[in-house]
Amino acid sequence: MIKIGIITGSTRDSRVNIQVAEWVKSIAEQRTDAEFELVDIKDYNLPKFNEPIPAIMSQDYQAPEAKVWSKKIQELDGFVFVTPEYNKAITSGLKDAIDYLYVEWNHKAAGIVSYGSTLGVTAANNLRLILTVPKVATVGTQPALSLFTDFEEMTTFKPAPFHEETVQTMLNEVVAWSTALKTIRS
Ligand SMILES: Cc1cc2nc3c(=O)[nH]c(=O)nc-3n(C[C@H](O)[C@H](O)[C@H](O)COP(=O)(O)O)c2cc1C
Repeated sequence: MIKIGIITGSTRDSRVNIQVAEWVKSIAEQRTDAEFELVDIKDYNLPKFNEPIPAIMSQDYQAPEAKVWSKKIQELDGFVFVTPEYNKAITSGLKDAIDYLYVEWNHKAAGIVSYGSTLGVTAANNLRLILTVPKVATVGTQPALSLFTDFEEMTTFKPAPFHEETVQTMLNEVVAWSTALKTIRS
């Protein structure tokens, strides 16, 4: 059974991110074709990126937190990134979490769920570009949530029902691609 990590994209204390990530997980758990796990980057307490050697050259990480993060990403076959949009990009916390690792990401698939006042689509496109370098293949279907219509007071997540079907379509693609890409990893 392949393992898919639902990765949070915000670490601030007052984030709405965890509500969206838990919703994605509740939809994913209706499936039997993969195992799904919430992977909250906040739990890993990664320090601001300060590794002496980039992960593309060495996995001998200096930060103890990075070793734990490496082990988690290594054991996953695919991902769903749940990202907000900060100044038209992903958060620095998510960028650091990606930058810490390299081979752990290689030849795996990902879906993206975005949200923001403009649906987070620019951040999602930014994330797609970033993920090309660590060789993560991003699927096309992308649920995009509005802070104005899928949240009450921009804080309490109340998604429009139609998004659930889009999440399932995205997961179909993530599971298929994650399964296929597993065959080319050693
Ligand atoms: C520093 C900062 C920059 C932001 N920039 C954008 C933006 O460019 N586009 C957008 O749609 N929303 C933007 N927002 C609004 C966020 O999408 C909104 O605050 C959302 O709740 C952030 O996700 P989080 O609560 O999970 O951290 C920004 C918020 C912050 C804090």
